[in-house]
Amino acid sequence: MNVLVISSSPNTDGLTAACAAAAVEGARQAGGQAEEIRLNDLQVGMCQACDNGWGTCRPEHACQVSDDFQALHARVVEADAVVLVTPVYYGEMSESAKAFADRLRRCEGTRGNESGLADKPVIAVAAAGGSGNGTVTCLLNMERWIQHVKGRVFDLIPVKRWTREHKLTTIREAAHSMVREAPEKNTA
Ligand SMILES: Cc1cc2nc3c(=O)[nH]c(=O)nc-3n(C[C@H](O)[C@H](O)[C@H](O)COP(=O)(O)O)c2cc1C
Repeated sequence: MNVLVISSSPNTDGLTAACAAAAVEGARQAGGQAEEIRLNDLQVGMCQACDNGWGTCRPEHACQVSDDFQALHARVVEADAVVLVTPVYYGEMSESAKAFADRLRRCEGTRGNESGLADKPVIAVAAAGGSGNGTVTCLLNMERWIQHVKGRVFDLIPVKRWTREHKLTTIREAAHSMVREAPEKNTA
């Protein structure tokens, strides 16, 4: 199984980074292939709501705003499973996660059951490294996003500063279980 771990913090050594590393580790320990992509290293701008609100995303399932999104979109469609890890900002996903999620949803959510994420397992991780507030609202939106792109909600994991250690274990084990659940794809 090929697992794409998408993280969305500007910090390379913070809580979000640790969560993403745990997901990569768990997937690899289960025999899967896993790679982290850091959205903040890419140029993925916000949706421009082209034309009257729908650009090429609805008829062609491709975004007409040209930047790093196109290559990332292809990577997500190629992957067997996705882990989306975001820091919690104001009880929501970070801006880089939202920009990516909004554009992907328009392209793949409009394909119905032909979505490139159809039935693919997705783990959402919301890392609230400040007050600890806002993981639930963040995960609620992430869950809705997974449903919009027709993915399968494998797990929703809230993390706070003081739950870091046991939640890193949870993330590792969730990624491990996700790979193990699809053994026929492990050797592909
Ligand atoms: C704009 C902004 C809003 C934030 N909002 C929250 C919040 O609602 N709840 C929370 O626990 N932490 C909040 N934080 C802290 C982040 O969740 C996070 O801990 C911090 O940005 C460090 O990120 P890291 O995961 O890369 O270590 C916020 C941070 C920023 C920059």
